Amino acid sequence: MVAAVPPVVSGGLPVIGHLVEMLQNRETLFKRGYAEHGDLFTIKLGPQPVLVITGADHNRQFYTETDKSLNMQDGYTFLKEAIGEVLFTASQETYYNQRPALQEVFKRERMVDYARAMNIEVQRWLDSLGQSGEVDIAQAMMDLAQAVAGRAFIGPDYEAELGDGFWRQYEAIAASLDPVLPPKLPLPKFRRRDQAKKKINATLSALIQKRRDRPERYNDLITTLLTTPLKDGTILPDKDIVTIFMGLIFAGHETTAGQAAWLIVLLLQHPDYLRLVQEEIAQHVKPGAALDGSMLSRLEHLYWAIDETTRLRPSADTQIRTVEEPIQVGSYQIPAGWRVMVSGATSHHLPAIFSDPERFNPLRFAPEQGEGKNPFAIIGFGGGIHKCSGMNFAKNEMAIITTLFFQQFDAELLSRDIRVVMGKGANRVSEVRVRYQRKAGAPRVG
Ligand code: HEM
Repeated sequence: MVAAVPPVVSGGLPVIGHLVEMLQNRETLFKRGYAEHGDLFTIKLGPQPVLVITGADHNRQFYTETDKSLNMQDGYTFLKEAIGEVLFTASQETYYNQRPALQEVFKRERMVDYARAMNIEVQRWLDSLGQSGEVDIAQAMMDLAQAVAGRAFIGPDYEAELGDGFWRQYEAIAASLDPVLPPKLPLPKFRRRDQAKKKINATLSALIQKRRDRPERYNDLITTLLTTPLKDGTILPDKDIVTIFMGLIFAGHETTAGQAAWLIVLLLQHPDYLRLVQEEIAQHVKPGAALDGSMLSRLEHLYWAIDETTRLRPSADTQIRTVEEPIQVGSYQIPAGWRVMVSGATSHHLPAIFSDPERFNPLRFAPEQGEGKNPFAIIGFGGGIHKCSGMNFAKNEMAIITTLFFQQFDAELLSRDIRVVMGKGANRVSEVRVRYQRKAGAPRVG
């Protein structure tokens, strides 16, 4: 029998419901909801009812109903004013028209170039560390993710081409993100956003023109977007190239930085597993060698650790959709206008799927244990047609960072209380102080 809508979680306040708790600590909110009502419950964000779902079967329905009875774009409205209408923030029609360009950006051949860019930037970072010292890994990963994005998408001259102010302007845009306030209010943060957008537009438009004038000189993201026909046979206009560039930076750099930092933290907190990773690195990666696809494919313990980091410390711990047509979920009928959210805080910790779920145990993903078989059990990279296009990019980046770091340095974690810091985009990590010492015989590569 189809029942009324799912029960509401305790703790809601008059008028605002669970809004403040959602913005400040949704992990506790979702865990409480699961403890009270199981895998389907309701939270209230102001007057807006939201169904929160848990478990691979419900997650599968969420991802396969996206672009059918569930609408993805509404959930990203707050991003539109910041980066523009593109891919996942644009209408479905625009998304499917632009999809060939997205696929071209992440096709296999390009991943080879991206891995080369990652090796260079990671080695530059390691060379800058000197013989020994202390570093905040959280900040270092953020800087590194920006450098990798610059080199991978703009090419070797990215520092001169993007100019000094680019990342400051990007920060002004990111700082303006606000899922609650109307994005056109005359507030200082929205004015700073609009000024930063103008400057970024001017910078990127000039880069596009240079590549249009001399396409033979470049082999980068902009040239790819300038030469890839869309579904309707047209080429992206310049303004959409700017928006796709910004969309990829937005989707990719804080997410990767946060998860790379957590990966290093979790490995340092679990020295027995780190030893397995180091043995594997010693066996398959010659000192001084740049990592390519074939080397990366042999680092299975490292990639299991990356998956375990996605499970335990996801940068993207939730995603949201709007119900366009009434939909049955479990035994409930969810009306149009409701929202639906997936929840890493609960789905990633189900004992029926993950044995001893609170424990860091990457070996759970080894084929003989097989806990990673259901593609909808973990939601950290999304699922279905909109599954993260940059997932392999991000995983390779994390693998190259950790391999070269632990190959060349001994490291000790100094920070004790490391926390997830909820961002308006991706989750970040609090400060991570690490003391390091260059290993004997690990020369600077330069
Ligand atoms: C650890 C790093 C990353 C995480 C955790 C992550 C997470 C996600 C998630 C959860 C989604 C699905 C969103 C939804 O269904 O609402 C997504 C989509 C997407 N991601 Fe990532 N991402 C990461 C890195 C990257 C990188 C490096 C790039 C590009 C350079 C990227 C580009 C994209 C794009 C373009 C989409 C939209 C795909 C579509 O709509 O078809 N991501 N990502």
